[in-house]
Amino acid sequence: MSPFRHGFLAIALLASMLGGASAQAADPAGDGDPFAARAEGPIHPSGRLWNRSGLTAAEIETRIDALLARMSLDDKLGQMFAGGWDTRFDDAQVREGRVGILSGVETAEEMARLQTLARASRLGIPLIFTRDSLHGYRTLAPVPLGLAATFDPEVIASVGRMTGQEAASQGMHLTFSPMIDLTRDPRWGRVVEGAGEDPFLTRLFTKAMVSGLAEGGLQATLKHFVGYGAVRAGRDYAEAELSVPTLHDLHLPPFRTGLEAGAQIVMSAFSVLNGVPVTADRRLLTDLLRGAWGFDGIVVSDWDAIRELMPHGVAGSREEAAFLAVTAGIDVDLASGLYREQLPGLIASGRVPTARIDEAVRRVLRVKYRFGLFDAGVTPVVDPAAAAGAWSTPELRAVALEAARRSIVLLKNDGGLLPLVRPPKRIAVIGAAARDAGDMMGSWGAKAERGDTPIFLDELAARLKPFGTRVSFAEGCDDACRSTEGFEAAARVAERADLIVAVLGEPWFLTAESTSRTRLGLPNHQQALLDRLAATGRPIVLVTLAGRPMVMVDAWPKAKAVLYAFSPGTLGARALVDVLTGEVNPSGRLPMSLPRAVGQLPLSYDMLPTGRPPSPGDELAARYVDEAVTPFLPFGYGLSYTGFAYEDLRLSVARVGPGDTVTASVTVRNTGARAGREIVQLYVHDPVASRSRPLRQLKGVARVDLAPGEAKRVEIALPVAELAFADDEGRRLLEAGRFDVFVGGSSAAEPTASFELAKP
Ligand code: BGC
Repeated sequence: MSPFRHGFLAIALLASMLGGASAQAADPAGDGDPFAARAEGPIHPSGRLWNRSGLTAAEIETRIDALLARMSLDDKLGQMFAGGWDTRFDDAQVREGRVGILSGVETAEEMARLQTLARASRLGIPLIFTRDSLHGYRTLAPVPLGLAATFDPEVIASVGRMTGQEAASQGMHLTFSPMIDLTRDPRWGRVVEGAGEDPFLTRLFTKAMVSGLAEGGLQATLKHFVGYGAVRAGRDYAEAELSVPTLHDLHLPPFRTGLEAGAQIVMSAFSVLNGVPVTADRRLLTDLLRGAWGFDGIVVSDWDAIRELMPHGVAGSREEAAFLAVTAGIDVDLASGLYREQLPGLIASGRVPTARIDEAVRRVLRVKYRFGLFDAGVTPVVDPAAAAGAWSTPELRAVALEAARRSIVLLKNDGGLLPLVRPPKRIAVIGAAARDAGDMMGSWGAKAERGDTPIFLDELAARLKPFGTRVSFAEGCDDACRSTEGFEAAARVAERADLIVAVLGEPWFLTAESTSRTRLGLPNHQQALLDRLAATGRPIVLVTLAGRPMVMVDAWPKAKAVLYAFSPGTLGARALVDVLTGEVNPSGRLPMSLPRAVGQLPLSYDMLPTGRPPSPGDELAARYVDEAVTPFLPFGYGLSYTGFAYEDLRLSVARVGPGDTVTASVTVRNTGARAGREIVQLYVHDPVASRSRPLRQLKGVARVDLAPGEAKRVEIALPVAELAFADDEGRRLLEAGRFDVFVGGSSAAEPTASFELAKP
């Protein structure tokens, strides 16, 4: 029996002993000991907007009872199907109630038309319209990894509101986002969709995004439950192996946070976790999510994932695939059609009880009621004429611009080359991405339009014109850079300039689903292009566009200044020029470590200690013989055009109990000549515990804006409950002892103070 299976059995047993979903917070030791191992109990959602219907929970259930009594099996299976829309879509599906959720309907007109049809159908059950809107609908903010780089819940929530408002204005109710898989291997192309390597930052992102979306009018889907972010060697759709403690400490917490924030839809992962495809894993989808956690919303499969149980090798037929998924706890079949096709036979044969179907339909209807969809007064059918003026507004674009500005990370700035306050007379911009709107927009563009998206080259030229700077351009190669033919022409343009701005990195089509990479340097011949530019002897500012951390080792010495922007969105070019010219002082931080080499992956700052820490000259240490073990640049790293100093760290208390909160306060001083924003990070280390604990873990973040020379006291609260970790059964343990605290501007912050968690 694997430790994983064992862990879930323990949780399931515990949950059933406690009465399953209705159980109150557990105290398995039963002696009131706050240090006893305890299972995580049911979640109590707190999102203000999770029930917009004006009905009580009991009223909703009564209405569902009445509706269920009128539903045929076909009607029920219709609610258990989510389909994709295309121009050949057959209206009969809606008229006859054969679909409950529709993904990707292109226009407000079409959504209004289909919703009107659905309401006029025999049962009048409204459709849910959805589309993956990970960083905007038509107006795009930076991709989620870029949003995480802001380390700022207000910015992330504002992007949630922007997305929600814009999508809802067109008739959308739901987005298949946020993706909250923890990602530690940048070979996986989907790292672009998440918040990076750290569970605290991912939870911060999740809470802000789920609430922001709801405030804007769009409901969230938490995906992909669970473990997809740990696919082996970063290969998309591959398998993951996670121990019970790792699952509970790292991968599950963002989902709990999202559910607490009011999310009502969870999408299961495509991938295999510890040998079982999640789509067929009853222990995860039913015993844990619904049982122990008490989740009463919808579990939707990933796209066609029920059919994929056959190639996964756990179902020998279409019937078996449907059987496994429905009994595991998938309520809604996204796209495969196997529920509609196979469940009638499975019910007739008695293998699937009608009660399971009713339960799934109840969940779908419950969410539709809570969304207010049954009540045209709460969620009206959108008026297409009004919709036309409700998107891409200046207000929405302003939110995207601010998020983009906050997401850009300054990695290097030798000799204070940036900002270009007194720009040179001649600047050569090199790189196809400088002229390509798509490379700003990034993956999962939803309804974004190239025409909305300013071009970097034009923005820079216009902004520098008043200084008399002439901006010239050469592509060098196309954005995939498969040919070196244009290099000499680019070098000639570069030679005639005083400064080169090279816009390189990952084009949008190399960063997304199914774009795993084995080499993480600049793609194809881009490094050779950079080398050729460097050979001109002109100073280079490298503007890196990417959807993941890349290996920057070879590019590093060629550029005097390096900006890193995770596809920064519709207004990305403007934000980049704001940063280059100094109108904005960058404050973005790396949400994932930058590796030195692919061979270090997966890599994260919160490694466990080793019995043989690497030390110079020690040959029998936890080291690589050909590379350092440390990242090239650490998690949380990012420069500013000014400098910051930390002084006088104090903790509010030296000894704490389990229910307490420690407040760390520190003076942060702007030591430079420009106003700037510092991202203050608090890390903790538990030096002696019953399990090895990470060398450090992020536990708090604050932002502070400082004028030149100004100093402010910054406080970060650390609830002691945050120090708990999982045991082999997935239960939380809080252990007494000393904890070390590090506060600073990155995960490399110096050790500074400690406190004692004492047994009462
Ligand atoms: C992805 C999901 C996405 C779905 C629908 C799948 O390929 O894995 O994240 O929500 O497509 O677009």
